[in-house]
Amino acid sequence: MTLEDEVARGVGGMGLTDAGEREGGGAAPSVAGDREMVANSKYSGRVFIKSILGRPDGGVGLIGQKVTVGGWVKTGRVMGKTASAFLEVNDGSWIGNLQVLVDATVATERQLTLTGTSVLVQGKLVEPPEDKKQKVELLVETILHVGTVNAAKYPIAKTKLSLESLRSQLHLRARTNTISAVARIRHALAVATHTFFDRNGFMWVHTPIITTSDCEGAGEMFQVTTLFSETERRDREYAANPPPSQAEVEAAQDVVAEAAEVVKELKAQKKNKKELEPSVQALMKAKEHAAHLEARASLKPGMPRKEGGEVDFGADFFARQAFLTVSGQLQVETYACALSNVYTFGPTFRAENSHTTRHLAEFWMIEPEIAFADLQDDMNCAEDYVRFMCQWLLDHCLEDMKFISSMYDKTAVDRLKLVASTPFVRITYTEAIEILEKVTEKKFENKVEWGIDLASEHERYLTEEIYKKPVIVYNYPKDIKAFYMRLNDDEKTVAAMDVLVPKVGELVGGSQREERQDVLERRLKEMNLPMEPYEWYIDLRRHGTVKHAGFGLGFERMILFATGLENIRDVIPFPRYPGKAEL
Ligand code: 4AD
Ligand code: MG
Repeated sequence: MTLEDEVARGVGGMGLTDAGEREGGGAAPSVAGDREMVANSKYSGRVFIKSILGRPDGGVGLIGQKVTVGGWVKTGRVMGKTASAFLEVNDGSWIGNLQVLVDATVATERQLTLTGTSVLVQGKLVEPPEDKKQKVELLVETILHVGTVNAAKYPIAKTKLSLESLRSQLHLRARTNTISAVARIRHALAVATHTFFDRNGFMWVHTPIITTSDCEGAGEMFQVTTLFSETERRDREYAANPPPSQAEVEAAQDVVAEAAEVVKELKAQKKNKKELEPSVQALMKAKEHAAHLEARASLKPGMPRKEGGEVDFGADFFARQAFLTVSGQLQVETYACALSNVYTFGPTFRAENSHTTRHLAEFWMIEPEIAFADLQDDMNCAEDYVRFMCQWLLDHCLEDMKFISSMYDKTAVDRLKLVASTPFVRITYTEAIEILEKVTEKKFENKVEWGIDLASEHERYLTEEIYKKPVIVYNYPKDIKAFYMRLNDDEKTVAAMDVLVPKVGELVGGSQREERQDVLERRLKEMNLPMEPYEWYIDLRRHGTVKHAGFGLGFERMILFATGLENIRDVIPFPRYPGKAEL
């Protein structure tokens, strides 16, 4: 079902589900006479603006209908002659604003017209005067709610704000056209992702966010620990209630000795059990007290440490070191080697000190893993998936794409069309190096020679200048790639592939996995990685190994690629990067 079909049927929500379903949030439209009445959104008793303006007729067919609409005022003015208020209202369901007319007899409040004011209004959809750009406007009969704004303090008032300055208003920036369009595109791409994998027989597996293995072996992990807060708590306790002195401990031990002496004497006097009881009790109490003091006397402030002085992670929450995941791949492989086609889609974390426009410390990654598949299958899957997402945006988010394109990158919509319809170029790493070595019209900052890790400038040159479309580079030198990638017969390269796209560079990184136990163990050793943490991973090769392959697609990089926005910090709601973690 296309977007037009959906809105024509009055689906009020994001309208991204398949035909026949109404999960987008719109209640079924009712029919009055031979005319379809616009449907209320199912859970808030008002009509989404998308259900009016998103129709192929721009809302004309709804003229005369009474609706309730809510949203935030984008711009507003009081019209001189009539003193009525003219508002442009947006509720986030659609890029366009609904024009709302409030007659002075209904409300005279100037407050209504201030940018950022929230309104819930009821009225009739009418035909606007001819000079208006929209085909329908709302003539308000009743104002149900007004959430006023403190205009002097509202940080994102009318004037055009740069995306950079909006980054310091994360709590309000979703009210801007750009960030709300990006949010809808992001949502659409998430739905596209689940749709693509579901249709192709993949199961979504939730891999852990807290992990104890470093998938990429690059040591760029954030540690998860309670040792700091625990140590602070114990240090506070220690200061408030210092440990006993040696003299106090010895005094308590003396009391034990004396009490023991008493019991001994009574026993020598052959006293019966009842007569012994009080002295035995006293001895036990003294022992308990002494033991308590002895234990407290050995307390030390600061982190728990082993004899050698290193921090004792055995005392940490998980009784070992734990981290935020850099990739769900290793874990999802365990499910691929049981359920065949799986994928994980979740947040990943990298503690790399990158300040680029392409890196985040917290980003989302989609990682499919396919059993009984090789590098060719892997490349086919990645290519189909990326092209599917491009087509999906054209089918479901065209208005938002057109808006973003008009504002930031005139080529964005055409790029989606091109990518959706053209096969990707595929070249080996060796071929890529040969091509780049021949480039004379550009001087690269990083020297090109076989064995280097391609830098962003090389990747972008290949995809933007040479081929002008997505390029898959495969069979990389083993020394620049992770331990789990399958060693090729030449023993020099691994069955790895990266999908490079214009505007972004690397969008996807993947590989066929090393399924041979002996080779995997050899690779771990060569790369000086410890065997113990990967024992379970080797076990998958020890028991019922199969060839398998997978990849990771950076979700925010996909949004950058689709929208043409320049900075990855603007395509995730709450960006985290060195020095910044707000809200
Ligand atoms: O190439 P990467 O590091 O591959 C892996 O993590 C593999 N375990 C994936 C797999 O085979 N299952 O990362 C995959 C993709 C990159 O191509 C890039 O798009 C994105 O994740 N990415 C980042 N995106 C934003 N910020 C960062 N710091 C990123 N690091 C990687
Ligand atoms: Mg990579």
